[in-house]
Amino acid sequence: MQLLDGKFLSAQIKQEIAAEVAQIRQQGGKIPHLVAILVGNKGSSETYVASKMKNCEEVGMHSTLIRFEPTVTEAELLDAVQQVNDNPDMDGLIVQLPLPDHINPDRVMETINPAKDVDGFHPINIGRMAKGLPAYVSATPQGVLEMLKRYNIETAGKHCVVVGRSQIVGLPMSILMQRNTYPGNCTVTLTHSRTQNLAEICQSADILVAALGRPEFITADMVKEGAVVIDVGLERVPDASKKSGFVLKGDVKFDEVAPKSSFITPVPGGVGLMTICSLMQNTLKAARREVYEKP
Ligand code: GUN
Repeated sequence: MQLLDGKFLSAQIKQEIAAEVAQIRQQGGKIPHLVAILVGNKGSSETYVASKMKNCEEVGMHSTLIRFEPTVTEAELLDAVQQVNDNPDMDGLIVQLPLPDHINPDRVMETINPAKDVDGFHPINIGRMAKGLPAYVSATPQGVLEMLKRYNIETAGKHCVVVGRSQIVGLPMSILMQRNTYPGNCTVTLTHSRTQNLAEICQSADILVAALGRPEFITADMVKEGAVVIDVGLERVPDASKKSGFVLKGDVKFDEVAPKSSFITPVPGGVGLMTICSLMQNTLKAARREVYEKP
């Protein structure tokens, strides 16, 4: 068993990004600028957004956090998105999800200029990604692809089982893994809460991607000997013995699954760190107009 070490890889990728930003700065070019909109003060969203901003600063990018009270109206939020769209200094925009119930997330995503949609959530980016055209790809699946690539994991002809059909992870992951490219060319099964014989399907996976958001759901009996196991889960599970009052758990029961797998991601220290790198890579692309010529 070999660990897919997100800590090691993300440090390497951050260095690469920092070198590119330094070069842009040296040449007097435009410093990439990521904007995050955060509504409310839900603990986990706060943590994620703070980490995104901090990482941008660490690689020399500019970052701006725009905060709103949970009572913000949809119109006010859409107006803020439009202002970022219209600001030529701002290259990338993310609106942290989930949003309060009175705001329609689809309307918000569709208001973001696709050329600044570094989360890859706009229908135009999802459609372009599905067609294999240049697009911003959702950060977590992109981070998983980067991991597979950097560990030279063979994917062609393999059976990839994705557990969970979220628009952010499961759905794009399944589309990306079937594409005629590397990493890709898998036979993909996308499973979800209504799937029958889930354990049996997981047992046939050469590459198993767990992205359902249920702590330690994937147990050893569901995993084939030698499988590559990617754990996208990151949940706070109450634990009175910890100062914080919780422990972080993935969707995979690591201790029993690890000995059966050829490669496995730890939680924390796995996919999560890769996600932020992908977001910064997308922001760099946005500043360089690599995906769309015009913002
Ligand atoms: N909430 C959970 N993951 C994400 C993400 O990747 N982007 C945004 N905007 N919100 C999230």
